[in-house]
Amino acid sequence: MSNIGSYDERIKDFSWKIAEEELGYKEGDVINIGWYCSDRICDQGKADKLALIWEGLGGVEKRYTFNDVRLASNTIGDHLRKLGVKNEDRVCLFMDKIPELYLSFLGVLKIGAIAQPLFSAFGDESLHVRLDNAQTKVIMTQRKHVGKVRRILEQMPYLTHIIIVDHDGKKPLKERESVFSLETAEKIEKFEIFPTKAESPSLLHYTSGTTGQPKGVKHVHYSLISQYLTAKWVLDLQDDDIYWCTADPGWVTGTSYGIIGPWSQGITQCVLDTGFSAESWYKFIAKNKVSMWYSAPTAIRSLMKAGDALVKEHDLSSLRHIASVGEPLNAEAVIWSERVYGMPFYDTYLQTETGSMMLTNYPGMKVKPGSMGKPFPGITAAVLDDNFEPITEPSKSGLIGFRPDWPSMMREYWRNEETFKKKFANGWYLPGDKSTIDKDGYYWFVGRDDDVINTGGHLVSPFEVESALLEHEAVAESAVVAKPDQVNMEVVKAFVTLNPGFIADDDLELKIMNFIRKKLSPLAMPQEIEYMEKLPKTRSGKIMRRMLRAKEWGEEIGDTSTLDDE
Ligand code: PRX
Repeated sequence: MSNIGSYDERIKDFSWKIAEEELGYKEGDVINIGWYCSDRICDQGKADKLALIWEGLGGVEKRYTFNDVRLASNTIGDHLRKLGVKNEDRVCLFMDKIPELYLSFLGVLKIGAIAQPLFSAFGDESLHVRLDNAQTKVIMTQRKHVGKVRRILEQMPYLTHIIIVDHDGKKPLKERESVFSLETAEKIEKFEIFPTKAESPSLLHYTSGTTGQPKGVKHVHYSLISQYLTAKWVLDLQDDDIYWCTADPGWVTGTSYGIIGPWSQGITQCVLDTGFSAESWYKFIAKNKVSMWYSAPTAIRSLMKAGDALVKEHDLSSLRHIASVGEPLNAEAVIWSERVYGMPFYDTYLQTETGSMMLTNYPGMKVKPGSMGKPFPGITAAVLDDNFEPITEPSKSGLIGFRPDWPSMMREYWRNEETFKKKFANGWYLPGDKSTIDKDGYYWFVGRDDDVINTGGHLVSPFEVESALLEHEAVAESAVVAKPDQVNMEVVKAFVTLNPGFIADDDLELKIMNFIRKKLSPLAMPQEIEYMEKLPKTRSGKIMRRMLRAKEWGEEIGDTSTLDDE
């Protein structure tokens, strides 16, 4: 029997109180995610249960029980406190998927500070704008990433401490740097956890929009309520599961479902901190007997490409339930998974801003391949017309709207109230996606309502890439759009005009690509750069991305009446 039982029964009398009661929380109580994910699990008699099985390069493995997680997060929290970190100070976690990332996340929350996890492949510029917006006080990082911090240090007077968690003691430390080693630090047994309340801030995740700088999405400790229940009912986590969430905690799936969801219910999870290969992924599942696997469409399409024969070479019989998130999961991928793994990938839809799953497929529910499923109980969702009223006619496309009343809804965009307000209309939160709803109430993703590029499940702002391109000496003008791609669904494509004296050749293309990779990230790096004599512009001088995008997708170009074609 699945945890959710019957979806139709659950939605009848749903209340978030179900989760509150299971977690032993009452309105007004102290609620601290760090405590819920470690101390409480130990108090339930699971101190010796494995919490984390970690594997890094070369097959190196580390294992942590829930008691280890409790002690490690106490120890890190204590260290930060002694450095002067106070509640609501921002602490950036800039690390690969190493154990310290997961343990520090809880340590930061235990002292009431705000965790700011950032994808470790971010380059200098990406790192700088996010630290600058958050006015981050401390950054915890690794030797191999500290160079990026050093290069932008002068521009960050508010950053008082750079903690290196894997320093080998060889190279000298620079300004504001210190070393912390979980292995040698004195373990803190008794720790005073900061008494955060429901609305105390917990987390800042940065997400990219079409225009402007990335937005810091603020979440609060009360988000636990929906993260706990969605993980339980949708991922169907059971006490003896070995769970594998392939997402990086630099992004929302990796914190909501790669830390909080599983650990708040005392589930053993495993983490593979190496790059993707179909073979190593199957080996990892077989070796660890993964029973619940949560991944993303780009990875699934890559596995499809690797072929059926490879699946048969590995013992994947431990798998019981599999799910996907982050970008459209095409019907073929669902049908393929049913054939080769004996079960479909259950698609789920969430956003950095929503903090937890909004539309999903549930164990026991009929999966319609290609559909995102139905709203989670307690979520009021609709597809809206131009007046932001729900469309009642089936299969008609409109903007998705959610009534903003679930526990893990973002509370604000950090220091950006204006953009936050624009996300609402007629009482609905607008995630910026379009969908249809069929006659059975299933949601079908249509597309985004803006120019944001979703490459391999990661959002990239065309604006950020365009601005970074302009900083290259050869580039005079730039326009960035999504280009279709079989595996990543979309990739970044740039159109540029060059400054005089530069030759439009392959060598320059490579140089510009690398420039963006280092400055922003490998995700934001254009996969193709097309040189143009001039870019299409409106009469008021605005570059018409829409036209360039339509060309890439072989779509109708639409209204070009404002085009300046002199
Ligand atoms: O456009 C939707 C797409 O990813 C966006 C959210 O991206 P982000 O905030 O970075 O969070 C990523 C982690 C989930 C959404 O606005 N998206 C997410 N899930 C799906 C999806 N598009 C189609 N189908 C999904 N299941």
